[in-house]
Amino acid sequence: MSLRDRLTRRQNGAAAPATAPAELAGEARPPATPRAPSVAATSGMYGRRAEVVPISPIEQVKMDLHRKLIERLDLEALEQIPDERLLNSEIRAVVIELLREESTPLTVADREDIIEQVLYEITGLGPIEPLFRDLSISDILVNGSKEIYIERGGRLTRVAASFRNDAHLLAVIDRIVSRVGRRVDESSPMVDARLPDGSRVNAIIPPLALDGPVLSIRRFGIDLSIQKLIDNGTLNTEMASLVAGCVAARLNILVSGGTGAGKTTLLNAMASFVPPDQRIITIEDAAELRLQQEHVVRLETRPPNAEGEGEVKARDLVKNALRMRPDRIIVGEVRSGEALDMLQAMNTGHEGSLTTIHANSPRDALARLETMILMAGANLPDKAMREQISSALDLIIQITRLSDGTRRITSMVEVTGMEGPVTATQEIFRYRRKGVSPAGEVIGEFEATGVRPTFMERLRVAGIEVSNDLFAEGVLR
Ligand SMILES: Nc1ncnc2c1ncn2[C@@H]1O[C@H](COP(=O)(O)OP(=O)(O)OP(=O)(O)O)[C@@H](O)[C@H]1O
Ligand SMILES: [Mg+2]
Repeated sequence: MSLRDRLTRRQNGAAAPATAPAELAGEARPPATPRAPSVAATSGMYGRRAEVVPISPIEQVKMDLHRKLIERLDLEALEQIPDERLLNSEIRAVVIELLREESTPLTVADREDIIEQVLYEITGLGPIEPLFRDLSISDILVNGSKEIYIERGGRLTRVAASFRNDAHLLAVIDRIVSRVGRRVDESSPMVDARLPDGSRVNAIIPPLALDGPVLSIRRFGIDLSIQKLIDNGTLNTEMASLVAGCVAARLNILVSGGTGAGKTTLLNAMASFVPPDQRIITIEDAAELRLQQEHVVRLETRPPNAEGEGEVKARDLVKNALRMRPDRIIVGEVRSGEALDMLQAMNTGHEGSLTTIHANSPRDALARLETMILMAGANLPDKAMREQISSALDLIIQITRLSDGTRRITSMVEVTGMEGPVTATQEIFRYRRKGVSPAGEVIGEFEATGVRPTFMERLRVAGIEVSNDLFAEGVLR
């Protein structure tokens, strides 16, 4: 039997369909997957439950054809083909062949459209694939099969796309996670994975998610180099030059911010200031960092298996990394006990480490670090804990997602040491919000507080020149 024959399910239904035809036939027509997704103007125009979005007659023909094709293709046989290019060309050939039997007149563009949709269905992310290909979208959030939201330019909106049903959504989730050797089912209903381009994926399914499977995709791979961050106003050139100096001079830096504030993005951009001759080891829960340097060793934690065994925590990886002759250790985010190991590493000759933390202010970040040290089971008195933190950390950079969706570095704080029993800090730069424009844009400016950081001496010794004028009190130009 030729490959093509094997890929086309015989009419007598010999091969088991990956998606049961009954599922496809017995339900309301799904809305078309738009090429350019139409974004709902306001999220309020939708109720809690999804309604069927009206589509044009030609779209309808395409959808019907598409469905027939999916029914006739042997999805399981297709999925066995490992080479993606071969797979794509095979699918294309089969679809063209099947389309020949159709009486409906189709333009070349329509035909291409259908082929593309079938390809998405079999090899990609199904109805969210077009969203994924739109590089201006940063997050894709699927709440059950009928509700899909996207974040674009910092704003969250609902789009008129949906999966056929929960089984369809689950099949896509399964495809994503099985590629990275993970699985999702009732016994392990939460899973982290990533897409081939590095985008981060989280899936959580019933019984933990009450209204159907939930898929959250955080795109990573949009070029957000430090220059882009300067261009979009996340920070300005002067601040960037100080950050560059601090990274190169091996200061230990903590990036702090809320969910989705842009911590990982900033960390990634900052890492570009690590000199190329240094050996960098990265530790993450789901590898997101994309460092430009050649000499990078990437490590990823592992969740426990279904029997609760085999877990490898960030802590274990930090300890292991210390035996790998690192010049720099970059931990994607400290969440727990690994904070202690990181601080200890910073204090014992592994300067120049970078990490992020989920916190709403630099003060909050310090408090959270203390909690994490406790999570590590270290029975340290408060003062000893703070000493550990203050001698390890040099700089905290707070990044914030403002109400208009833009990201700003809202504070840069030097950790100077201890003042009595507390960690002493001094702010160097801050973002001062002055108001909101009629269009809802936040108006504000970066300011220097007039404080010259004490670590400037370390930069000077490292041969890094930063002008003193930078720290003169007032608005940064
Ligand atoms: N400075 C920025 N300017 C514009 N967009 C940004 C910026 N930083 C991040 N983003 C976008 O916001 C999204 C979230 O970024 P990122 O993953 O860096 O945030 P995070 O704080 O690490 O999130 P999490 O808390 O989920 O780890 C990304 O899709 C990214 O493209
Ligand atoms: Mg992050």
